[in-house]
Amino acid sequence: MRGSPSSETRKEAGERTIRLSIEKLVYGGYGLSRSENRVYLVRYAAPKELVDAEILEERKSFSEATVKRVVIPSPVRRDPFCPHFGECGGCQIQHIDYPAQVFLKEEILTETLRRIGKIKDVKLLDPIPSGQETGYRVRVQLKVKGGKVGFFRWRSREVVEIDSCPLVHPRINGILPGLREVARHIPEIQEIHVFYSPTEDEFLVKLITPTEVDRNLISRLKEDLLPAEVVGVGNYSRLRLFLNRRYFIGRDHTYVKVGKWTFRVSADSFFQVNHTLWERFIEAVVGDVSFRKALDLHCGVGFFTLPLSERGNFVEGSDSNPSAVDDAQYSARINGRDNTVFVKSDAYRFLKGRAGEMVDLVVLDPPRGGLEGGEGEVLVKSRPGRIIYVSCNPSTLARDLKFILKHGYRLEGVRVVDMFPQTYHVESVSYLTLQE
Ligand SMILES: C[S@@+](CC[C@H](N)C(=O)[O-])C[C@H]1O[C@@H](n2cnc3c(N)ncnc32)[C@H](O)[C@@H]1O
Repeated sequence: MRGSPSSETRKEAGERTIRLSIEKLVYGGYGLSRSENRVYLVRYAAPKELVDAEILEERKSFSEATVKRVVIPSPVRRDPFCPHFGECGGCQIQHIDYPAQVFLKEEILTETLRRIGKIKDVKLLDPIPSGQETGYRVRVQLKVKGGKVGFFRWRSREVVEIDSCPLVHPRINGILPGLREVARHIPEIQEIHVFYSPTEDEFLVKLITPTEVDRNLISRLKEDLLPAEVVGVGNYSRLRLFLNRRYFIGRDHTYVKVGKWTFRVSADSFFQVNHTLWERFIEAVVGDVSFRKALDLHCGVGFFTLPLSERGNFVEGSDSNPSAVDDAQYSARINGRDNTVFVKSDAYRFLKGRAGEMVDLVVLDPPRGGLEGGEGEVLVKSRPGRIIYVSCNPSTLARDLKFILKHGYRLEGVRVVDMFPQTYHVESVSYLTLQE
């Protein structure tokens, strides 16, 4: 999808239905159709089908619509399995069968690399599908509003109440009734974040409220309404994208085992969402590397850094989040990886500080915005022999690869890692080598 829809001029469409032939799926989970020189982005459509769609909004360069009736179904269309599908905004492509979801994400990735990155002939490597289509999420962010606990409607701030979500780990669904009761007792709650460690069977819960909640109240509700496996509950405020901890009751971290590795994961650290592909994801990134020195930018709790450290002499990891860096340092100790060092720094400053050092490999795994604030420039100046770029956003990946390729690198291949089945999100790994 080109441009940000919210930046376009909007015009409410009213009740208008149009028959559309859907060409393909595009980023955002929309079916794309062209009719009479106009582009239509259609929710809940599948490629190669004919639908009657209701126009939701007319914008300058396209119209947004939603499927009202499928006239001729796509060969990959199926019945969605969740009763909330179509109402809850958490899933966009549950109506497409799973192998096709992975294939369509590959198409979206290569098309985006061609269109934005001007990269022709992208070599697609074998994808890593999710181990399970459902029950894969170990992290969930519930929205709370007007007594409802659930998820936002598609591109809306209205909360759709849910009893259970098929995408989340069944153990998280098991504590939803207790969390709903907690929200009933604390009406100020706006969001509830849950992290679950499937290997320890432990939960961390964060309650986000605009003002501080009495510590004794949260302590009592934790005891009365939540199981003992909820090892800690914190109270947080939100400032735009950032959460600020006020206090934490109980333990603020758990552990996660992935293969032979044990990671400490604190409530404020990032951990990869889909437990059914953790091991294969690590293997896809560190599988065939060897080096004297490697850097792992955006290293989080060391998810790739620790396994990397077995493949070479020395790895330095850095992350801007102090909680993640503490976890990474602790995890390196308990896993006996004394050839690793972790530094709390933003990626740009970290790389700049290593100018002139011989680095064989750089692993990148930035947030959705991709490489920012001069990070790309210092990266290509440091001339690592290999770059492995893990991305959760095809558009910023395409922009960054275009830049990196201009500076003497070759793209050896890309692969989709399907971290988020039933949703439009496209996670990928790109492999680059220096040509000089
Ligand atoms: C997608 S997560 C990946 C973490 C890790 N590679 C993993 O697999 O668990 C992105 C990480 O980038 C970090 N981050 C965000 N902005 C950053 C910046 N400007 N410099 C360094 N790290 C940053 C976040 O704290 C987060 O841990």
